[in-house]
Amino acid sequence: MPHDLPAPFIWTGPPLAEARSLPAAAYASEAVYAAEVEHIHRKTWFIAGRVDEWPHPGDYRAIDTVGGPVLVVRDAEGVLRAHANICRHRGAKLLGGQGNTRSISCPYHAWLYRLDGSLAGAPAMAGTPGFDKAHWGLLPVRLEIWGGFVFLNFSSDAPALLSDLGNLPPLLASHRLEEMVCVWRVEIEARCNWKLLVENASETYHTGTVHAVTVGAQKSVTLPVAGEWSGIQVLSTGSIAVMGDAPVLPQIEGLSAQARQGTFFVCLHPVTQLAVAQDCAWWLHMQPLAADRTRLTVGGCFPKSATERPDFAALAQPYYERWEKVAREDAGILEHVQAACGSPLFQPGPLSWRDDVVHAFGQWVLGRLAAAGVSVG
Ligand code: FES
Ligand SMILES: [Fe+2]
Repeated sequence: MPHDLPAPFIWTGPPLAEARSLPAAAYASEAVYAAEVEHIHRKTWFIAGRVDEWPHPGDYRAIDTVGGPVLVVRDAEGVLRAHANICRHRGAKLLGGQGNTRSISCPYHAWLYRLDGSLAGAPAMAGTPGFDKAHWGLLPVRLEIWGGFVFLNFSSDAPALLSDLGNLPPLLASHRLEEMVCVWRVEIEARCNWKLLVENASETYHTGTVHAVTVGAQKSVTLPVAGEWSGIQVLSTGSIAVMGDAPVLPQIEGLSAQARQGTFFVCLHPVTQLAVAQDCAWWLHMQPLAADRTRLTVGGCFPKSATERPDFAALAQPYYERWEKVAREDAGILEHVQAACGSPLFQPGPLSWRDDVVHAFGQWVLGRLAAAGVSVG
């Protein structure tokens, strides 16, 4: 697919030493948080998982989101769909957890929905004049798939996912993400604002201290961006998806020269992060729960060929340990930052040259809020 190559990332605002981190209200104010939910989170794409996590017709997963309960289900024709997980009668939540089902039955008055969301039956409603089943299917939620990742969006006006991804698909093409399978997930309750997690994932300035005994100090370069994302490449010709000298899986065949140089850490604005290494990929979803609380989900993916090796389970274990341990180290330090953001003693500080993507992301958030008439104190 032809693509206009973007100019390299060049920060055109004030020099970073004159720039400041965001004000405390951006992290601690419930009013700012509510504005972010309304003007950012309910209008942008966020990750719901991997397409291979719903392999069969009838497979479903109930997901709590900033826009309410959503049901992602593969219908009888094999189409992956997202519906509001809310009965059209009087609003009961329909399904919880995950599993496989032939239809969706409301636990309250037993209205019955097909997997495609259409209403199949409504007991005794034939006695209600003017009722037409055809009008009362489950409300659809936008769902798009790229690289095997499933994304949702509550806004009918939002651009298509591919438009937001800009120049990212060609950058990651040689990893063949669509051929990977997600084999592992963990959820971590992080007691911090969602932006602290995104910012933290956008710099390697902290890795030598926060991750001193796990992955250690790292070097990174900022990626040139066109689209609604930002990112860095952590430079290392060996995989950084394991700790120490644990054995690694083979490098993915056919990687581009750039992809062989290190791991891409990209944030698809605002709450999805992809980490794409030479042998695997892992994804993170920072689901906002409150100004000071975020649910961090981490998912681990490998090429299908790797998962079919007889020794895969043993080889994959160090990857899972690394992903969870490093994520918990990050969440741990960010709890301390969050505590400080709530203090009247907190003042925005000068940024490092290694915080360029942190600054760009903060400006992106402020820009989205400003466009909606919201300023952050
Ligand atoms: S709320 Fe679902 S059938 Fe009444
Ligand atoms: Fe980190």
